[in-house]
Amino acid sequence: MRQIESMKRIIITVDGWSSCGKSTMARQLAKQLNYIFIDSGAMYRAITLYFLRNNTDIKDLTSVIAALKNIQLSFQINSSNGNNEIWLNGENVEQFIRGMEVAEKVSEVAAIKQVREFAVKQQQMIGEKKGIVMDGRDIGTAVFPNAELKIFMTADNEVRVLRRFKELSDKNPSIHIEEIRSNLAQRDHMDSTREVSPLRKAEDAVVLDNSHLTPDEQLQLALGWAREKIQD
Ligand code: CDP
Repeated sequence: MRQIESMKRIIITVDGWSSCGKSTMARQLAKQLNYIFIDSGAMYRAITLYFLRNNTDIKDLTSVIAALKNIQLSFQINSSNGNNEIWLNGENVEQFIRGMEVAEKVSEVAAIKQVREFAVKQQQMIGEKKGIVMDGRDIGTAVFPNAELKIFMTADNEVRVLRRFKELSDKNPSIHIEEIRSNLAQRDHMDSTREVSPLRKAEDAVVLDNSHLTPDEQLQLALGWAREKIQD
């Protein structure tokens, strides 16, 4: 059998609700296939961080457009953990984008048409050479509608709340589970009802409900689907 690395390189999209483990799965899948992993949510989070730091009035489109002109985003591999991390204007901002301050604003920012156009253009450029796994909300529907493999991830509400609580309370022990529950509900609502590229399952996506799956079980499922497409 040919080495998987020398086979056809495809685009794999992973979309779904907040905190259902998309990034964990997509990162591991990319590693197994020797593909690039891109967390598109990190781009919207980094843009939100820039707006917060610079007091950009997100209700004022002129200010938003001017601010976007000053934003440069890139992904770079962190040699200490092997992760593809996001840089904003020459600064690694990975540690600043995951807290509640950004989480509370990001879905409002991500609903702005100009912000999406800015991010999607870069996502499409990164995907030009294929060999990529990208996770987000609109990757299979708007960014790469012709992707060879589209995965739509979901998990029970309470499972998602508990996962995010565990992740955030490790870093911030004073965080309340209620705060997380309401943030996820609010973001899911905004993400799926916004006008521009709302979160929805692409018609040709396969559904992966990981409520009762271990990270390895979900990875094996996705790897199976990916190998089928790669060997097509
Ligand atoms: O980690 P979690 O699943 O909670 O969120 P994320 O992937 O980091 O994305 C943060 C937010 O960015 C989402 O709630 C969406 O509002 C927005 N987003 C988007 O609109 N489109 C994407 N392709 C990715 C994220």
